[in-house]
Amino acid sequence: MPAVGKDIPNDSSSGHVSGRSVFLNDVPPTRNELLVDFFGSRVAHGRILSIDCSVASNVPGVVALLTAQDIPGRNRFGSIMQDEHLLADSIVNYMGDPIVLIVAESREAIEAARIAIQVDIEELPPILSIDDAITAGSFIGEPQLIHCGNATSALAQSQHRIDGSLSTGGQEHFYFESQTAIAEPGENGRITIHSSTQHPTETQQVAAEILGVPFNHVVVICKRMGGAFGGKETQAAAPAAMAALAAVNTGRTCRISLSKDSDMQYTGKRHPFQSRWSVGFDSQGLITALALDLFADAGCACDVSPAILERALLHADNAYYLPNFRVTGRLCRTNHPSNTAFRGFGGPQGVVNIENIIEEIAIYLEKGALDIRQINCYGVEDRNTTPYGQRCENNTLPLLFSQLRLSSDYDARQEQLAKFNTESPTKVRGLSMTAVKFGISFTTKTLNQANAIVNIYTDGSVLVSSGGTEMGQGINTRLRQIVADELGVNFSDVLIAPTSTEKNNNTSATAASSGTDLNGAAAINACRTLRKRLADFAAPLLADTKNGQTLSPDQLRFENGFVFVPQQPHQKIAFHDLVLQAYKARISLGERGFYATPGINFDRETGKGMPFFYYTCGVAATEVEVDRFTGELKVRRADLLIDAGQCINPGIDRGQLSGGFMQGLGWVTTEELKYSSRGELLSHSPTTYKIPNIGDLPEVFNLGFFENHDECVSLLHSRALGEPPLLLAISVWAAAKHALSFVSKDAARRLSLPATGETLLLAMEHSRSKSATALR
Ligand code: MTE
Ligand code: MOS
Repeated sequence: MPAVGKDIPNDSSSGHVSGRSVFLNDVPPTRNELLVDFFGSRVAHGRILSIDCSVASNVPGVVALLTAQDIPGRNRFGSIMQDEHLLADSIVNYMGDPIVLIVAESREAIEAARIAIQVDIEELPPILSIDDAITAGSFIGEPQLIHCGNATSALAQSQHRIDGSLSTGGQEHFYFESQTAIAEPGENGRITIHSSTQHPTETQQVAAEILGVPFNHVVVICKRMGGAFGGKETQAAAPAAMAALAAVNTGRTCRISLSKDSDMQYTGKRHPFQSRWSVGFDSQGLITALALDLFADAGCACDVSPAILERALLHADNAYYLPNFRVTGRLCRTNHPSNTAFRGFGGPQGVVNIENIIEEIAIYLEKGALDIRQINCYGVEDRNTTPYGQRCENNTLPLLFSQLRLSSDYDARQEQLAKFNTESPTKVRGLSMTAVKFGISFTTKTLNQANAIVNIYTDGSVLVSSGGTEMGQGINTRLRQIVADELGVNFSDVLIAPTSTEKNNNTSATAASSGTDLNGAAAINACRTLRKRLADFAAPLLADTKNGQTLSPDQLRFENGFVFVPQQPHQKIAFHDLVLQAYKARISLGERGFYATPGINFDRETGKGMPFFYYTCGVAATEVEVDRFTGELKVRRADLLIDAGQCINPGIDRGQLSGGFMQGLGWVTTEELKYSSRGELLSHSPTTYKIPNIGDLPEVFNLGFFENHDECVSLLHSRALGEPPLLLAISVWAAAKHALSFVSKDAARRLSLPATGETLLLAMEHSRSKSATALR
């Protein structure tokens, strides 16, 4: 039985639920190990005048206090622009910006040192919002633009036109395992860093540059992460480099693990966005023109913000054909921690705009929003070219819409809730269906490559290593399934090694949902080479030479732990016997496979090309109920339907579908980042920052996988599913907006994201005070 397609549990699941999984900070301290933390800025923007560590250095247990001057290499890093410092040398850019590294024997010593450190800072005016940044002209990089047709003239000629704006909030990753690293100094300037990182290679490079050593001196290892969600794509590097700097300076093993509060306060988040838009459409709701300007709060540094903004622009069309379209984007530099990758990577911030605009058109025309979505949906034969010129191949979106419309009983429920809303004095309900068309690939072409090593041992067991990192998404389980089938051995005979830069070099982050696609394809390439080599060796062994038979190697099959000639039951050899014989005959039983995604090409200058290998598409219909007097929102029912192609692991895919949706539900409803006027994050723990919990699950939650037997170009005809489901939660927000439209058009128009209870209540209150007729 092949392993691919089977519901094999995630190989960490029993460890996670029983508490036996070992995360980095569960590793007991080694002898002489030291703890590392930092003293950070207490203003959001300022100039350092002096640093005095003399009192702190006398605190018992303090071993080292390091400043920018103690950095032997280069105190600048950043994967796109090198505009970040590890330790501030003159300007501090956000509340908490690290200034002094504290290396000590105990937590108590660190806290005492933190109090004793004296840093004099001249406060500078901070920029704390997108509006302030626009006023001050504080931007990062150049404006971005994607367009097709002529939006300006089409807008002028359109039958109807609406203008509007939308603001969407940031989001804390809330991975359960905070940023953590343990650095062990080696001989002759070499160092090993265990890091909770999605990107061991970048962590290696940043640490090497900070230390001023060549990359080959630094090994970064990641066994697993306790969640990452994009937050450890670039931002695991700084803590790892801090531990490394401390280890090199003290010659002792050094560990850093941020507290939950510090992690929430001092690391970057999802980018808040603001948009301004104008849409033109006809009386059916067919969109004839759209102009959209996006502004993102990038925080104080570049990080991967240009790529995030690019993905927002490339997803502004979402599932809808736009003949005349213009989207521009700008990154605002503010005095918040640098914002970073977060599941969806700008995609959600792009998509929510057009889904919002369609709700607005529906309210304006007093038509059903789903009808408007369906008439604007990308076509199968025509009307299927995106504004950047890539065609939607094998487009299943029209089918997804119509299938879910039926299976969710959409039309009957719309009638029921309209009736309910006229009758209920206390509650108001809304139901909306939104879509996702998520482009799979890094939009930076170079990153779409991977290497994987497959080693077969003489007992027939197999060990695979790749640059792919496990963060709960199940890449290790999927890789085991894929390799097991390629070599025709049991799932249990294949294990995955901890990810390490020593084994796999120059890897990309496990991100952009393409971890399994890229690393799985590289592993398959390695397996095919090994299989060819083993088949060449096995063919003469299995041939029935007495009867003059010769066998061609490609006649052999590798299945169920055997290598055999089809239809000849006696002509077979156990895989483990074959590899032992091959070893004795001095045949290599290890291979490194390489993969680069074919066919992709995107020209940033013109905004045209084929950035994505394929799209993962889905739809969701969600019904919510809002309390008219408290604003409390409940999700009554959510029906998701996703085209994941042919699933590699249906159970893990269900986990990604429901988990991604729930994480998105948090972004669109309850998760709200509140700052003081000085730029201090106030909502930095679960008591003040509300992520969804089990009680927030939809009362009825239907997870659907669309049956797609198309031969999708991707890995084994599967489609990546790490990020796309998050965008389906936009249906929750759209449903809330739909509910408010029963209170008043004005209330609906006022809704921003997240739709917290407070936001919903204020939108309703505002319209109630404007008109005495609260109920419609
Ligand atoms: N699922 C879990 N359980 N934990 C995570 O941290 N990260 C998400 C998604 N699913 C994440 C997750 C993000 S942001 C991405 S890009 C993908 O997993 C990365 O893994 P993949 O490419 O192997 O799908
Ligand atoms: Mo995911 S945001 O691409 O790490």
